[in-house]
Amino acid sequence: MQIVRTSEELALARAGLGNGAIALVPTMGALHAGHLALMEEAKRRADRVVATIFVNPLQFGAGEDLGRYPRQEEQDARMLEEAGCALLWLPRVEDIYPDGFATRVSVSGVSERWEGEVRPGHFDGVATVVARLLLTVRPEVALFGQKDFQQLVVIRRMTTDLGMGVEIVGVPTVREPDGLALSSRNAYLSDDERKSAVALPAALRFARGAIAGGAAVPDALEDAKELLRRAGFARIDYLALVDSETLEPVEVPGPANRLIAAAVIGSTRLIDNLPVPDMVLPR
Ligand code: PAJ
Repeated sequence: MQIVRTSEELALARAGLGNGAIALVPTMGALHAGHLALMEEAKRRADRVVATIFVNPLQFGAGEDLGRYPRQEEQDARMLEEAGCALLWLPRVEDIYPDGFATRVSVSGVSERWEGEVRPGHFDGVATVVARLLLTVRPEVALFGQKDFQQLVVIRRMTTDLGMGVEIVGVPTVREPDGLALSSRNAYLSDDERKSAVALPAALRFARGAIAGGAAVPDALEDAKELLRRAGFARIDYLALVDSETLEPVEVPGPANRLIAAAVIGSTRLIDNLPVPDMVLPR
């Protein structure tokens, strides 16, 4: 696996990868089995895989965890090499945003609710860096986790709208045996918080079951929120049933719905979501 930092090194290494199909797996590091699932899917879909590790300052708000975001480059590089990564791009901030960088990519509509409302500017930061990475690496396919469902929808919108000519693939969420979605931020949880955190996927599964059983959507969502409060979540930013493409809330279940949630336990903010299979919906 080749490791490069500057855009110039990247351009040279990219040219050396040959003519086969390239897949891109963008990450912020602190890699876990969720990231490795993206690598596995990438290998199935392309000849060579390029990964990036870049803790993107543009997508963190004031008071968020940019300063304490876990960094473990050497371990990450070993994991990527074992996973069959051909090229790892580890840019510094000045490699991505050189002096004078003044462009922002902003996706309206799907960016605005949910994460976008609680974290103003977050998706502009994500869209800008992902555009920068895609246009520099020029992969045929790029892989993103369904774990960050709204991010996936925002990136699809951006690449479609800008005709970026890259296929965006969403990979299902990898979970711990008890159901908690793997996340680099789980490292912030104390032992007690870690035990309580399992209430987040449990509340989503509860809501899915209640809706499938014919409960009114607002009642199912309210009961699921109550489960979170009882488990010790201090703040619930949202727990909603939405259309998977528009991310608009839906009150009457239909095809392609998704349950999405964000809540805070201790000082850690966790997000999760579940697909709602059409067949579980009442006729
Ligand atoms: P990061 O949080 O490091 O996640 C990198 C990729 O891994 C994202 O596409 C994310 O959805 C996926 N991922 C994280 N946890 C997962 C899990 N449990 N199962 C499956 N996939 C999972 O998301 C980002 O970085 C950044 O916003 C980025 C896209 C790199 C732009 O800076």
